[in-house]
Amino acid sequence: MFIRLSLAATLLLLANLAVAADVTPPTDDAARANALSQQLGERLKVALQAAIKQGGPMAAITVCRDEAGPIAADVSRESGWTVGRTALRVRNPANAPDAWERQILEGFAMAAEDGANVAGLSFQETTGSGEAQRWRYMKAIPTGPMCTACHGSNIDPALEEAIRASYPEDQATGFAPGSLRGAFTMSHPTL
Ligand code: HEC
Repeated sequence: MFIRLSLAATLLLLANLAVAADVTPPTDDAARANALSQQLGERLKVALQAAIKQGGPMAAITVCRDEAGPIAADVSRESGWTVGRTALRVRNPANAPDAWERQILEGFAMAAEDGANVAGLSFQETTGSGEAQRWRYMKAIPTGPMCTACHGSNIDPALEEAIRASYPEDQATGFAPGSLRGAFTMSHPTL
């Protein structure tokens, strides 16, 4: 509990500092991680928007299902880092957080509850030791207006049925605009 609280407090402090005056200069890794998060987010959004324009949200489910993974894999291959998305409540069980990610996500959720701007939340840490040592980074993903069609609380029944068909264990609904949907997560070995 203490760790969770202090993590949330640190995140909130960092978010506030970043807003108040750019006093938290990012390390090179953090700057690159932030850029990669933006790149992955943009590529997913472009694919999503194109699919919605072409065939509506129904067609876009297939794009999220079949292209989100490969797009993240492309960004991983191009960058040499391991890049993906996770959340406390996931649609695809394959995106479920590991213990470290869950702890950071819980910290993000507490910071958001305390009023931090979700888009400003990120966290970095070097974990493990020896050959297993990795630099890890997470950046919170806010629920945007276009996300609620498939992740909100008022999902079209036909759409909901189609989502259930591919994701019988879906937990990723009920998100309000601006709330914490999940996070980009990435890492690389330090050796
Ligand atoms: C057309 C429906 C649709 C829309 C719109 C949509 N998503 Fe998703 N989202 C999905 C599907 C389907 C998955 C599961 C993808 C997979 O299998 O990896 C998913 C997965 C995710 C995940 C990975 C964690 C998880 O729950 O499995 C995140 C994070 C996410 N979406 C965020 C967003 C955000 C942010 C937006 C708005 C910019 C958005 N989504 C819009 C359908 C949608």
